[in-house]
Amino acid sequence: MLRVCVIGMGPIGNRHARIYKENPAVELVGVCDILRDRADAAAKALAVPAFYDAPTMLGALRPDLVSVATGGYEYGSDHYAPTMQALEAGCHVLCEKPICNEIPKAEEMVAKARQKSRCFGIDLNHRFNPAARLARQWVQQGRLGHLLFVNMAVWIKNPNESSPYFQLKALHPHTVDIMRYFCGDIEAVQCFATKAPGRKIWSTAQFNMRFRNGVVGSLTGSYDIERGHPMERCEVAGTGGRFVLDDIFRELTLYPAGNLEKTVYTNPVFGGVRDFKDTFTDRLHTFLRQVADGAKPEAIDGSGADGLAAQKVLAAAIESLENETVVAVK
Ligand SMILES: NC(=O)c1ccc[n+]([C@@H]2O[C@H](COP(=O)([O-])OP(=O)(O)OC[C@H]3O[C@@H](n4cnc5c(N)ncnc54)[C@H](O)[C@@H]3O)[C@@H](O)[C@H]2O)c1
Repeated sequence: MLRVCVIGMGPIGNRHARIYKENPAVELVGVCDILRDRADAAAKALAVPAFYDAPTMLGALRPDLVSVATGGYEYGSDHYAPTMQALEAGCHVLCEKPICNEIPKAEEMVAKARQKSRCFGIDLNHRFNPAARLARQWVQQGRLGHLLFVNMAVWIKNPNESSPYFQLKALHPHTVDIMRYFCGDIEAVQCFATKAPGRKIWSTAQFNMRFRNGVVGSLTGSYDIERGHPMERCEVAGTGGRFVLDDIFRELTLYPAGNLEKTVYTNPVFGGVRDFKDTFTDRLHTFLRQVADGAKPEAIDGSGADGLAAQKVLAAAIESLENETVVAVK
């Protein structure tokens, strides 16, 4: 049975911890936050010991697997230290997105996992649901023919004004990951952005992309629109057909080229995804299963390398926004 710890007990760390606690195949053995009240409250609710610094917990409990759900500047600056500490201690690590807000540190995290031969996953949870998996299967089966274009969009409300690039770096690890999931690596990016009334940050953005396989893509994202209606949409088209994936997991429709019969997958009422929180459960369970099955680190679904690749696309987008140029992804 895998022994699991969680570092960073904000809302998301508590969500990770509850998912582990409710999984009979693993044992949640400890939680940690540098804020004592957060660590203590989570420990009490989950009936596990509280720790106030990660190295102490890792040394005392020697867990097999650790979730890093810290945040920090641009929702990612606090991921580096505990991830490196946990990998150094020999743990498999599932880290929240973005992998890190700085590319060189993200590269170090991926390299450390490789050096230690540990599984390193990122919580790219938008790809962890049956509809997204089916869409990817259609692509892999060639049902879309030769891939041509992808249009992706996401819009939610987030009033955080901490960094000019907060929306680009904190929201779009998910969307870029979904685009890469269906269409592969992105090699060039161009980005325009705008600021909603009263905002100081680039709160809405539009990206154009060229993929390595020649696919062309666009991505629109916003932190300026209240939730309520559907909030995410992905359309992928090829010579053989086109699919639309609505609202992450809600509905997937395949429109085969030259054929008037469409195929629709609808999220079922019984046994389906109940809400967005279930994508975390699927993501964490997938990582646990892969680790338990002895998956090779490079086979991890939603890996550290995937998280790093998404962040590199976003770094290129920021460079494009600043310089009004098309930027090659490094
Ligand atoms: N996957 C998703 O859909 C999704 C959704 C929302 C947020 N997130 C991500 O989840 C992460 C956490 O979000 P949150 O809202 O819970 O953040 P938060 O800031 O409320 O909580 C983070 C906690 O980590 C603690 N922390 C920081 N450094 C630490 C360290 N070295 N050791 C121990 N504790 C440390 C902080 O004290 C804080 O309590 C962010 O990276 C965010 O991007 C992901």
